[in-house]
Amino acid sequence: MRPGRVLVDEEAIATRLAEMGAEITADYEGKDLLLVAVLKGAFMMMADLARHILLPVDIDFMAVSSYGAATETSGVVRILKDLDQEIAERHVLIVEDIIDSGLTLDYLRRNLEVRQPASLEIATLLLKAGIQRVPIEVKYVGFEIPPDFVVGYGLDLVGKMRNLPYVAVMEED
Ligand code: PRP
Repeated sequence: MRPGRVLVDEEAIATRLAEMGAEITADYEGKDLLLVAVLKGAFMMMADLARHILLPVDIDFMAVSSYGAATETSGVVRILKDLDQEIAERHVLIVEDIIDSGLTLDYLRRNLEVRQPASLEIATLLLKAGIQRVPIEVKYVGFEIPPDFVVGYGLDLVGKMRNLPYVAVMEED
């Protein structure tokens, strides 16, 4: 397997993140906003999106791992690193690189809702259209993509290729 056709190039990502950042800036003006990125995939999205949000935001990170087959999310999620801070009464925006089955975010949303934030929304760069196994409400979506195996811009193949500045479809050699 190797990265083949570029699905979303660097310029398209930059343009879309600027738009999303402007929208988020307008929506959260005057509010205490905490951005929560889900490691590892979302590290690049977090860094780039945050620069387009023209508000004094706070940032935090969670690390989670799915049990079960390595290539498919089982829906059973284990928290490897929890948030450093309390989120009660705060406006929380989860920043993700991709939503596939939706099971990771479904778990995270329920886990964080228990802590009673003032609001809890999701921003994702990529959404694999129509294949979610649970209904999931996503406020900010960068791009809807087909259900191909993609890498780059945070997304990995066995730990590698996260540093590609674009999103590419994996192809057979
Ligand atoms: C990816 C991605 C999401 C999740 C989406 O993370 O960053 O968190 O999968 O899949 P789902 O919608 O089917 O739950 P992954 O578990 O690959 O970990 P990583 O971010 O460390 O690569």
